[in-house]
Amino acid sequence: MVGYAFMGAAHSQAWRTVNRVFDLPVRARMALICGRDESKVADAADRLGWEGHTTDWRDLVTRDDIDVVDVCTPGDSHAEITIAALEAGKHVLCEKPLANTVEEARAMVAAAARAQSAGVRTMCGFNYRRVPAVSLMRELVASGRLGVIRHVRAVYLQDWIVDPQFPLVWRLQKDRAGSGALGDIGAHIIDLTQYVTGQRISGVSAITETFVKERPLPAESSGLAASADGASGGGPTGLVTVDDAAVFVAKLDGGALATYEASRFATGRKNALRVEINGSLGSVVFDLERLNELEFYDATEPSAEQGFRRILVTEGDHPYMSAWWPPGHIIGYEHSFTHEMRDFLEAIATGSDPAPSFADALQVQLVLDAVARSAELGSSWTEVEPALASVAA
Ligand SMILES: NC(=O)c1ccc[n+]([C@@H]2O[C@H](COP(=O)([O-])OP(=O)(O)OC[C@H]3O[C@@H](n4cnc5c(N)ncnc54)[C@H](O)[C@@H]3O)[C@@H](O)[C@H]2O)c1
Repeated sequence: MVGYAFMGAAHSQAWRTVNRVFDLPVRARMALICGRDESKVADAADRLGWEGHTTDWRDLVTRDDIDVVDVCTPGDSHAEITIAALEAGKHVLCEKPLANTVEEARAMVAAAARAQSAGVRTMCGFNYRRVPAVSLMRELVASGRLGVIRHVRAVYLQDWIVDPQFPLVWRLQKDRAGSGALGDIGAHIIDLTQYVTGQRISGVSAITETFVKERPLPAESSGLAASADGASGGGPTGLVTVDDAAVFVAKLDGGALATYEASRFATGRKNALRVEINGSLGSVVFDLERLNELEFYDATEPSAEQGFRRILVTEGDHPYMSAWWPPGHIIGYEHSFTHEMRDFLEAIATGSDPAPSFADALQVQLVLDAVARSAELGSSWTEVEPALASVAA
């Protein structure tokens, strides 16, 4: 694994747990973790359960006893580490968004295609696909229970940078993160809605905004937490080079209309991901703050009995749930990562291709790019190129 902070800890927990919960044909051995600071990565290895540590990610790529590389760094290093690992024959799980640019994402898809012929597997870490209620939502749509999909309504809202004194961490720098709320959290709702509906976003019209344009430089940062250099103000500052919020309307290639909102300025909203889908025969709603539940409205029921009902997604015949607790005993955020590792290991062991593939993640990257271009051009309607055509080009 490369990176030991927020996603490093979440993924480590999943790697530690996956074989204890799921019966799989292969076992994960947590061999080596990489970070740039020797004492911090040594401490992380000890705390998170890794056998060894290194300060150079190339050690992961060159060691013969390492089969899988898990990339949990900011987007500016995803392409370099991933492509080197694939060329060395390692299976790669890479965090989202796949890259900082469409060009990098294309190069990663091409490297994955070359490696695939040698049996090497790749997956991008859109973990919310693996929340059982989201998997169930997709099953309901795919089985036709919602009929023809007309509307998709998706928001992903946070508020961790409302304070203008919150420092200029890597997530607020374009050269490190690619974009702001758009790529960080907007990417999740783009992937989730395309996954659940089975439809691709074909065009967008967008606005983005950077509400606080200059911030104190960080003294220290990790994940979504940070302290400023000169906390009382008056210290050195830098320019914010990404969006604080992105809002766009979209058309899906199956005919549905969609709205998306991604913001880090939604005061009071901590990690509020909500998706509603309306079809000709019914609707479903997923809310991450109630992740064991799905709201379902079935318009084919007698009108006197119609209404949204709550499905508690904890039955043994719900996706992933048979491995956990008795019905009604709920699970949480971290389980989505355990499910991710389960699916990745099973694909490696059975020689199948896991999803989301790098091509799926390139599709998300193409939407991010179209949103950014539309916003730059005064919200002009911008078509999204299909990923497969893009890879062939
Ligand atoms: N799936 C999700 O829900 C989710 C949530 C948060 C973040 N992410 C993604 O995970 C990735 C990491 O985000 P995070 O929140 O964990 O960030 P973070 O700041 O908490 O951690 C980044 C880690 O990468 C390390 N690092 C950076 N550059 C490195 C390099 N060149 N070599 C070795 N180590 C390096 C840092 O030392 C740190 O340990 C990003 O792509 C982000 O978009 C995904």
